[in-house]
Amino acid sequence: WPAIARRVHAIRRLQREQDAVILAHNYMPPEIYALVGDICGDSLALAREAAKSSASTIVQAGVHFMAETSKILCPDKRVLLPDTNAGCSLAASITGAQVRELKSRYPNVPVVTYVNTSAEVKAECDICCTSSNALTVVEAIAAEWGVDQVIMLPDEHLARNVAARTHLSVLVWQGSCEVHEQFTSAQVGAIRRRHPGVRVLAHPECPTEVLDAADFSGSTAALERWVDDHRPEQVLLLTECSMSDNLISRHPQIAFVRSCNLCPHMQRITLDGILGALAWGQHEIVLDDAIAVRARRAIDAMLALPD
Ligand code: 13P
Ligand code: SF4
Repeated sequence: WPAIARRVHAIRRLQREQDAVILAHNYMPPEIYALVGDICGDSLALAREAAKSSASTIVQAGVHFMAETSKILCPDKRVLLPDTNAGCSLAASITGAQVRELKSRYPNVPVVTYVNTSAEVKAECDICCTSSNALTVVEAIAAEWGVDQVIMLPDEHLARNVAARTHLSVLVWQGSCEVHEQFTSAQVGAIRRRHPGVRVLAHPECPTEVLDAADFSGSTAALERWVDDHRPEQVLLLTECSMSDNLISRHPQIAFVRSCNLCPHMQRITLDGILGALAWGQHEIVLDDAIAVRARRAIDAMLALPD
């Protein structure tokens, strides 16, 4: 604990000196989420807060695509990512050239990209979405274009889960999240037998069979709200392990049944890394201006939709 307290103290001091805000995703471990995150939330909340922040530096306690999103929304701010190897299997599953190829095959079909993609991919797409607004975005862009088909990139499972809730036809890319694709409905069944009465919540990056076996699905913020509102006796969160770790401190009376997976990319962000980012300005996100401007159009189109 003294070692953690010393690091937190040093981070707070450097943060004031550097006029920095720390944006922490819900998958950050508790020592980051609870002790140094100024703003904590899901991908959508962090994108909105990055756009509003008055600090001149943003330290992104999250993965690379999140830091790029902050830079796209705040081109005049310095955006730092403590570890540039903090990637994402979804973002790595598709390139800008592959989106261009898809667009040439389906010229009159709008392309929706999940925010878990590179700036280069966002620049090729018509609108972004996150796991909290995917259905709204897909239906809004189809209505705007007057079409009944959309392309949704790159998460196969999120796209199929949206397709199950809309009359639209959704063309799917074969990307997946290495953390959420591992959950199975058999696992949910086994846990329900071992913990009768457990409420099961799943992130929409899980396969459809898992969502069908769950009681509720939603973005990390939606899962958090569900727990806050329902305060079940026992709950299983089918998502990254830090979600339960962070919620336990708010709800010590709830039994969090553990069957989760760690995201190796999120795990790369540490207190030492944040300290290094603030002390040495590492690692600054630099984007090509033309790509950033085009990517911003896709993000702004999403942010312009009602909450
Ligand atoms: P949220 O948008 O729900 O925060 O999810 C981001 C993510 O990377 C999930 O794996
Ligand atoms: Fe990407 Fe999955 Fe990690 Fe989220 S949990 S950052 S989607 S690999």
